[in-house]
This record gives sequence, C-alpha cells and structure tokens, in this order.
Amino acid sequence: MWTAKDNMTDQTGKTVIVTGANTGIGFETALAFYKAGAHVILACRNTDNAIQALESLRQQGGTGTLETALLNLASLKMVRQFAETFLERHQQLHLLINNAGVMIPPASKTDDGFELQFGVNFIGHFALTGYLYPLLKNTPGARIVTVSSMAYLRGSIDFDNLKSEKSYDPMREYSQSKLADILFSVELQRRINAVGDKVISVAAQPGANKTELARHMTADEFSAAVERIGELMEPWQGALPSLYAAVSEDVMGGELFGPDQDGGYRGFPARAAIAPNGSDEVAAQRLWSYAEEVTGVQFPG
Ligand SMILES: NC(=O)c1ccc[n+]([C@@H]2O[C@H](COP(=O)([O-])OP(=O)(O)OC[C@H]3O[C@@H](n4cnc5c(N)ncnc54)[C@H](OP(=O)(O)O)[C@@H]3O)[C@@H](O)[C@H]2O)c1
Repeated sequence: MWTAKDNMTDQTGKTVIVTGANTGIGFETALAFYKAGAHVILACRNTDNAIQALESLRQQGGTGTLETALLNLASLKMVRQFAETFLERHQQLHLLINNAGVMIPPASKTDDGFELQFGVNFIGHFALTGYLYPLLKNTPGARIVTVSSMAYLRGSIDFDNLKSEKSYDPMREYSQSKLADILFSVELQRRINAVGDKVISVAAQPGANKTELARHMTADEFSAAVERIGELMEPWQGALPSLYAAVSEDVMGGELFGPDQDGGYRGFPARAAIAPNGSDEVAAQRLWSYAEEVTGVQFPG
C-alpha cells in the first residue's frame, strides 16, 4: 500500500508545477511535494484562491518552498503568458502535473471557442506542456503527469463537435476530454521516444473523491452518482496516483496509474490497463495534429 506519508521520496531541489493546486486533488498533490521538500508552483486561475491555498499549505507545514502563479487554462493567451513568465524565472522543471479540471459545467466555451471541458482539461494542458517542454527536456529525470478519470472509458473523440458545433451533452463532453488526456499522455510518450528524449509522460486517474469537482451537479445528480460509484475517498487519497506516477521508480512512460480497488474507484496506486479507446494510436495522432494546429504549439523535437 503506497502512501505519500510513508513512501514519498525526498524531493528537495525539485521544481514542480501543479495546475489547479488551490483545492481538491491538486491541493493535496502540492502538499505532498511541499512536505517532501520541493519548490512547488501553485498554478491557479484565481490569485486570491492561490494565495489562500499557499497560506493553508504553509500552516500544514513542509520543508519545501511555495510560489503562486496565474494560469487560466481556458485562455491560450494566458497559458502562453504563464509559460513565458515561468521560463523567465526558472532554469529547471522536474515535474509538470497537469491536474486542473472542470466537470459538467453549463454549456460554455473557452476564450478560443472550445467547449469548456475539452478546452481546459485537454487543449490548455496540451499548449502548456508544449511551451514548457524545452525546459522539461533539459531537466534530468523530468516527468509530465496528466490527470485523467475513469470517465475516459465512456469517451470517444467527436472531431466535428469539439467546439459544441452540433450539441452539448455535459457528461459526454467530460468523458471526451478525459479520453483526450489519456490519448495525449500516451501519444506524447511515443513522440518523446521517437526523438530520443528522456522525459517521461504518464497518466493518472484518481478514482472517486470528495472534491469540488461536483460543484456543477445538483444534489440529486450527486446522490445518483454516489449511488452508482459508491463511497468517495478523501482528496489526499485521490492524489496518490498522481504522486506515485510522479515519483515512483516503478513507472514507465505511456502508462496509467490509479486506485487498485473496486475497478479503479478506490484504493491505493497501482498500474492500470489502458482500455482500447485510450490506446487508439490513430485517434491519438489525429488529436495531436488537431491540437498542434489549433494551438500553434509543436513539440517534442
Ligand atoms: N474528484 C474526483 O473524484 C475525480 C475523479 C476523476 C478525475 N478527477 C480529475 O482530477 C483533477 C482534479 O479535480 P478535483 O477533483 O480536485 O476537482 P476540484 O476540487 O474542482 O479542483 C479542480 C481544480 O481545477 C481548477 N480549474 C478549473 N478550471 C480551470 C481553468 N480554466 N484554469 C485553471 N485551473 C482551473 C480549479 O480552479 P478553481 O477552484 O478556481 O475553479 C481547481 O483548482 C481534474 O482533472 C479531474 O477531472 C477527479
């Protein structure tokens, strides 16, 4: 049973970006790195919330250091600004944790016109990873952890509806975005291997947890979801797959880690098989080309 408390290795000297670190799984991920001695950048879309999280992390105590940075993944311009500022200030980046996410919001779009979940959960993180890749590549032992969800299993990519041109179905769009995260993570590793870089790209899925992710659900929808998937874990436990993927020696690029019990909804980190829709190379390549085209960001290589 792997836990951060018992198994997290010393992260002193490491620089870590956690997107969406002000709450939920991102907060717990940041806390574990802070306790382990890392320099943690809390990359959040709301500065006040980021500062509040930083203070709360300090109160809980850690041997690392903390910094907040403004990152709104719903705006490619702001993603670029975040990356430019980061690259001016930092000479290394050991870990990029692509954690931030939004689930079943009312129909809405990013600044660039993408359906919000596809835009934030995937497109924003694609661009962010691309902008930061040159630094990751030059930092020994660098890893990129992309947080997906069990919802990816029900997902498919509808290339004709990525801007909600046809219709909006909140859970279908969430599943699509989380499938995109897996396809991205696996395809990135293929491309890293092809150019001979040493960076590791790995996916994590946190299982079922009590966080603010359900903020757009009605009370009835929330009860029905809990009825279907069972008891929810505390966010510290949901952070473990991301942490394991980020620090364990037992990790290879292109893999997925998630809780080991109840079909992946609860438990402690373990390697998980990637379902056929998540390892579809044709879909992954098409998605990659699409993302390169719409973001104008090309990497690795
Ligand atoms: N909780 C679960 O059971 C579960 C299950 C499967 C997968 N996940 C995945 O785990 C990750 C973390 O979710 P969580 O459960 O911790 O949810 P959460 O408590 O709602 O946290 C989500 C984080 O993402 C941030 N975020 C949302 N939109 C953003 C944007 N446009 N730009 C930058 N940051 C943005 C949020 O910021 P604000 O607070 O400012 O909105 C928040 O910090 C997500 O990728 C989610 O899909 C969670």
